[in-house]
Amino acid sequence: MPFEPAFVAEIRSSPSASPDAAELVIVGCAEGDVTDGKPSAKLAAFGDAAAVGSVIARHAFKGSKGSSVTISPSLVLVGLGKDGVDSRGFGKTIAATAKANKVDSVAVAVTVDASSVNAAELSHGILTGAYESTRFKTKKDDAPEPFALKTVDLLFGADAAGIAAGSAMAKGVFVTKYLVEAPPNVCTPTHMAEAAEHISKISDRMSLTVHEKEFCEKEGMGLYLGVAECSAEAPKFIHLTYKGPNAKRKFAIVGKGLTFDSGGYNIKSAASMIEMMKFDMGGAGATLGCARAIAEMQPDDVEVHFIIASCENMVDGAGLRPGDILVASNGKTVEVNNTDAEGRLTLADALLYAQNHTDAETIVDIATLTGACMVALGPDVSGMYSPEDAVVEAMKGASKSSGDKIWHMPLEEAYLEQLKSPVADYKNTGGRLGGSITAALFLKEFVDTSKVHWSHLDIAGPCWNDKEGGATGHGAALLTDFVLSYAKA
Ligand code: BES
Ligand code: MN
Ligand code: ZN
Repeated sequence: MPFEPAFVAEIRSSPSASPDAAELVIVGCAEGDVTDGKPSAKLAAFGDAAAVGSVIARHAFKGSKGSSVTISPSLVLVGLGKDGVDSRGFGKTIAATAKANKVDSVAVAVTVDASSVNAAELSHGILTGAYESTRFKTKKDDAPEPFALKTVDLLFGADAAGIAAGSAMAKGVFVTKYLVEAPPNVCTPTHMAEAAEHISKISDRMSLTVHEKEFCEKEGMGLYLGVAECSAEAPKFIHLTYKGPNAKRKFAIVGKGLTFDSGGYNIKSAASMIEMMKFDMGGAGATLGCARAIAEMQPDDVEVHFIIASCENMVDGAGLRPGDILVASNGKTVEVNNTDAEGRLTLADALLYAQNHTDAETIVDIATLTGACMVALGPDVSGMYSPEDAVVEAMKGASKSSGDKIWHMPLEEAYLEQLKSPVADYKNTGGRLGGSITAALFLKEFVDTSKVHWSHLDIAGPCWNDKEGGATGHGAALLTDFVLSYAKA
């Protein structure tokens, strides 16, 4: 099973190429390009001026954002609006237009100033827009795999570094999508470890250690192993490292990697989306997506540890019982009052490992942690927690640049009371209300926030979206932008 597409479309800056050579030319037009139903000279130059004029008049095309009009089999106009170019959105429209016209190469021109197009965003939009989740369908002989789009010639000056950065980000998003969309009988903890191995080979600045169960036992990772206990799939504790030659900023990204979450003895009902729980490794998927992007971007000044305590949450005679008390690798005891609150158990031991086995100053964990976060923020927005304002601000900045939506949630200390157990140091769940917050507070108990900068991302909502084609790739770009920007001198 592959971990990413065998190829992605090539995007070239070809300012001197002739539009006549292309099978399909897509022209991005500003609103000012059409006055009284007539095209500007710049726009008319892309075809027979009279034909362009009559078609745009017939369709009342004004160049408004999101609109498009087909002038001829080889010419489509796309509106860019008047409030600056949404380069990512334009890229997605380019991919959709190529697909609708069944061509595998397109040329793209703009009537606006080339400098108003962001090459990274445009490339990100083109590539992610062209992706189709068809891997698990039977192929018809002529079916494209998984991209129909092969080349995109930008007939304006687009900077090569931007194209490279956008393409690297898209490749990260694809790794996340591949892992999250894969069913739980394919994407097992072993598959996750193999994905990490695949990424480790992309850059010689990457190295990989996959710890087996025995290591985790020696470490005393009782919370993680308690969850993994009864699965027929071997747990894999993944530690992938990227080291830039001038690494000044050191990060650990810790992803929840439950390749399936049945709920355990507190088994999930159909109403709690048990059939969707293959996406419970969405945090780990985003973690490896970030690793994929970083492997390609090769920033000099960072070291990043990608850490995933991967396992399944299953049901069996030898499985975790509600009421069991487990011991974490720091000696703290947890009464498991609900076996379905398993993510925080695996993450606690993974967070402790990140603090004890790396010299990361900044730790971000990312997890499909609670249904409560979906209730709070809906399907499109992730919950973001951090006790530090500077981290909050940087995460908001990364959200804005990546397009992965987040909302800052409170670490309401008083709710910690709910996690006190009469018989152990903690219970793993509190009450029904504020469930995303109590989950975050549980994790915080395992992070020494006086020593490391920490943030927790609950991506339960945005990780998956049926309308958007399933796995969204959410988190990969957010983490990457955070790593590239946080605490940069
Ligand atoms: N993986 C789930 C969270 C989840 C649920 C994500 C639905 C997306 C959609 C997590 O392991 C879980 O089961 N959490 C419980 C916690 C509860 C038992 C305190 C939940 O949210 O119901
Ligand atoms: Mn669960
Ligand atoms: Zn879960």
